[in-house]
Amino acid sequence: MTAPSMTASSITASAASFRAACLFAIAGIGMGIGMAASHDHTLMPVHAHINLMGWVSLFLFGIYYRLHPALETRRLALAQVGLWSLGTVVLVAAVAGLHLGYPAFEPVAALASLVVLAAFGLFAVLVFRSGGPARAPSPLMTPAE
Ligand code: HEM
Repeated sequence: MTAPSMTASSITASAASFRAACLFAIAGIGMGIGMAASHDHTLMPVHAHINLMGWVSLFLFGIYYRLHPALETRRLALAQVGLWSLGTVVLVAAVAGLHLGYPAFEPVAALASLVVLAAFGLFAVLVFRSGGPARAPSPLMTPAE
């Protein structure tokens, strides 16, 4: 049996992004189905944020990291994915609380939004520092001679 190319302790930034994105998508889509079935759209902003911050944004981060292999094992990139995921979970929980009529969640939402901003700041630093071109095209994409 061949050894796995990636162990749990050496997860890459793109793999972490894609996995987290899938979990958020399952939650977001499940919630969308629940809203549609119940005709109760009170928590529609929560559904939208889970899907757009959790599924779409994380998937886009993952694509960027996959295209820039030098970033894949950088701790800063893994920290960025973790911080973004954590911020998203707390933000959507706080937004849910607010839409359910609990104004006490406002400071939580404010704090979480700063965490999300910090996570995006980290991503921006990585993008600006990674500078060079994305990885060379795969041989599979080389035009026929
Ligand atoms: C089975 C999958 C899904 C179902 C059943 C579903 C269902 C819904 C429902 C019932 C609403 C409320 C519409 C309203 O009150 O006007 C909604 C809103 C929304 N959904 Fe989904 N959704 C699904 C997947 C997704 C996905 C994958 C995304 C994004 C990637 C998404 C993004 C949004 C956004 C941004 C809104 C807010 C739209 C607005 O402001 O009018 N949804 N969805």
